[in-house]
Amino acid sequence: MLEVIHISDTHFGPDRCHTIRGANACDRSIALVAAINALPFTPDFIVHTGDVVNDPDPEAYALAAEVLAPLRAPVYFATGNHDDVDMMRECLAFGPHRLLLPGDGGKLCYRLTGGKSDEVEFFVVDGKVPPEQGPHGFLSEDQIDAVLGEISGEKPVAVFLHYPIGPIGSSWIDEHLLLTNGESFQKALAAKAGVRLRGVFSGHLHRGLQLFRGGVFQSGVSSPACEFTASPHDDFCDFLPGGPIPFNHITFTADTTMVKSYSFPFEGLS
Ligand SMILES: [Fe+2]
Repeated sequence: MLEVIHISDTHFGPDRCHTIRGANACDRSIALVAAINALPFTPDFIVHTGDVVNDPDPEAYALAAEVLAPLRAPVYFATGNHDDVDMMRECLAFGPHRLLLPGDGGKLCYRLTGGKSDEVEFFVVDGKVPPEQGPHGFLSEDQIDAVLGEISGEKPVAVFLHYPIGPIGSSWIDEHLLLTNGESFQKALAAKAGVRLRGVFSGHLHRGLQLFRGGVFQSGVSSPACEFTASPHDDFCDFLPGGPIPFNHITFTADTTMVKSYSFPFEGLS
């Protein structure tokens, strides 16, 4: 059995006063860390699915590293559209992993190693596109091939990335925030891993998400900084600051994937 905590979209700024629509990103992440550390069990590891910072800045990553340091488990990070891979590698402490494309031109594509990660084949992939093209994502063929080549067909498989891989039924999000080749990635994963594919886990929406399509379970976690609206006919992204502090607790057993969504009230000022 593996216990994993899934967090995302902390959007740290370069200092503790940085706010997003009035919400203090640092204070809210401090509350997130306290809530995770207050759990009555120790997770095997924690995955942050990207947008660690709001703008790529070494000071913002240093602040993120400082605030996340008290977490009592190895932490892994996926690249968000707001992130910079070189700064992430330099400033953040990753749990044990093996890069799948060494010298890969700035892509953060790896497999978790060590601890209980042997029980499930865990992959983190990088869908970031140049900022002028985003905020949608795209997964390069070499990453897809690398992940497919690692899947043994004998163990459960789980993939983490920033971008949801298919439409969620909300017009603005579906037009702007998805992995544009997500559906073909999903089909390739499902074809290789079959029933052993336990899920694809993402952030980016600033909404919680549970979705089952084409035999594949997808799960997303919201942002502790601020939530987006996701109504069916949204023609823009509205912000809902002041929401609760969210994280997901994912349990993998021999035959089950469970996701329990937590949301704690934020007792700070914003
Ligand atoms: Fe974000």
